[in-house]
Amino acid sequence: MADLSVVVDGLKLPNPFVIGSGPPGTNANVIGKAFDENWGAVICKTVSLDASKVQNVAPRYARMRAAGTKEVIGWQNIELISDRSFEVWEDEFKKIKDKYPDRILIASVMEEYKKDAWIEIIERCQACGVDAFELNFSCPHGMPERKMGAAMGQDPELLEEVCTWVNGAATIPVWAKMTPNITHIEDPARAALKAGCEGIAAINTILSVMGVNLETLRPEPTVEGYSVPGGYSCKAVRPIALRMVMELATMMYGNTMHEGEYKDRSLSAIGGVESGEDAAQFILLGASTVQVCTGVMIHGYKMAGRMCEELGAFMDKHGFETIEDFRGHSLQYFTTHADLVQRQKDAKAEKKAAKEGMVTKDTAWEGDKFVEQSDKLVSND
Ligand SMILES: Cc1cc2nc3c(=O)[nH]c(=O)nc-3n(C[C@H](O)[C@H](O)[C@H](O)COP(=O)(O)O)c2cc1C
Repeated sequence: MADLSVVVDGLKLPNPFVIGSGPPGTNANVIGKAFDENWGAVICKTVSLDASKVQNVAPRYARMRAAGTKEVIGWQNIELISDRSFEVWEDEFKKIKDKYPDRILIASVMEEYKKDAWIEIIERCQACGVDAFELNFSCPHGMPERKMGAAMGQDPELLEEVCTWVNGAATIPVWAKMTPNITHIEDPARAALKAGCEGIAAINTILSVMGVNLETLRPEPTVEGYSVPGGYSCKAVRPIALRMVMELATMMYGNTMHEGEYKDRSLSAIGGVESGEDAAQFILLGASTVQVCTGVMIHGYKMAGRMCEELGAFMDKHGFETIEDFRGHSLQYFTTHADLVQRQKDAKAEKKAAKEGMVTKDTAWEGDKFVEQSDKLVSND
């Protein structure tokens, strides 16, 4: 059986499946459940020093189902970061680490553009024994109005400055979580890596309007008749997440066309993962770990066991013994469109030559047809 364990930035995980920041990591009770169900690591719901400013509304989710079925393929939320007080979180971080000392607990944190606040939140979380940080530079709603979340993630200069403050105070690994609501996701990622972050996580949710109710003519989710654009997640975003992870991995690790810029840093993939096969695709594109948020809200914590079996079966089928054996393997198959055109021309020419019995490769020479093959290659008879 394949070995699913991974060591990333010195953190030892029994498998690459990580609870992504959101409702599945929102208090000590559910984080404990995730560890009991053998998730590789848990990233808590994003915390900040002053939770009193966080005011959620209800309803705050909207779902997209596949036509004619109950299957959920898209999920929109207008949920903010954790509304639970930082002091309660400190207490819970300590309790979780006391109960699960060998499991990996990652604190997702977010602050305003204030150096003292970032340093304070890093130092206080660290004192509780958390194993790593994920910096939320990506929440698309509610927080940008306060210049937090995606507003920082869309401004590489600002992000680099904040990451420099954080890395000056952090003694444990730091991942920067990227927003997909930007043209070139490599730009803020490069800024975070330049400022010393150990890893990049991507993607957060994609800005969206879920729909307009044709009876009431109001956009959804509707709160007192009004709405705001929200964050889109679940299966429907997976192709976009795969593309962005591919772009990040190409920048970080390189491929046949680019030299990698940060080969020693890590990449945690997020977006629409619900199976071991989904995870395998992100790993083939360079990710060491794969996060799941909405999937847990649909299928529950037990899905970790199924996903491990599916990933193990994929690895056994291909003879991969460890995650590193195939991590990033498929990056080499991305090229330019002009190269695709050239490859297709070459393949057609080769096919035509073969049809006419012309030798285009030395391996095609045959003893019985040698003279005939030689004749066909002569141009001036
Ligand atoms: C209801 C909900 C709440 C979320 N809250 C947070 C959050 O507090 N911090 C954060 O970094 N990401 C948050 N996310 C984003 C997820 O961590 C993840 O990046 C995104 O949903 C894509 O992954 P998925 O398709 O597996 O959900 C939230 C997502 C959902 C659906």
